[in-house]
Amino acid sequence: MAERGILIAFEGIDGTGKSTQIALLADYLAAKGYRVAATREPTDGPYGRKIRSLFTKRCHLTAEEELALFMADRREHVRELILPALAEGKVVLTDRYYLSTAAYQGALGHDPARIIVENEKFAPLPDLVILLELTPAESVHRIKNLRGESLNDFEREDGLAAVAAIFAGFAMDNIARIDAAASPVEVHRKIVAKVDEMLAAGKDSA
Ligand code: TYD
Repeated sequence: MAERGILIAFEGIDGTGKSTQIALLADYLAAKGYRVAATREPTDGPYGRKIRSLFTKRCHLTAEEELALFMADRREHVRELILPALAEGKVVLTDRYYLSTAAYQGALGHDPARIIVENEKFAPLPDLVILLELTPAESVHRIKNLRGESLNDFEREDGLAAVAAIFAGFAMDNIARIDAAASPVEVHRKIVAKVDEMLAAGKDSA
């Protein structure tokens, strides 16, 4: 049987601390002897770079075009990075995956359920989704005051509230919801508990 790694997706609105938590979890898993591949979407490939360059000019894209770009980026991400890493038995930690498309492009008017169905035709199901939860007001506060950044078009508070509402409605079994308002150390502790639980369940069923 082919070696199969583990896929963990980090999701949530902007400013929830996904990249900090991925770095902490990558170190934790590496210390336990796992080979870890940390990655992100939008990717650093051609579609991902195009998406980043369009951040401030979203009005030039239709909702259809925007969805098509995120889907193209993901297809490439799955083909070039995620599937090969899983085939090598690695633990893949991805900063955003298809629930981001369901939530963000869903907030633009696309049907979130349909987006999920389309993605699951080609994108492997995550073993665990860490969904970091924060109020849109706290998210905006963190982006502006703590990072000192201005908000890109994806990050306006009214838009984030719509995105957060869609994230809040997901009911899949593989989702672990974690309150991201706590300290980074506390959030990490909760994530480790969920990951250890998932790893132990995987061993039992192997
Ligand atoms: P983000 O994770 O904030 O990237 P970075 O911090 O590395 O710049 O992602 C950029 C934005 O893209 C974020 O506001 C959410 C949005 N996004 C979507 O709208 N749809 C998607 O499918 C993905 C993956 C991201």
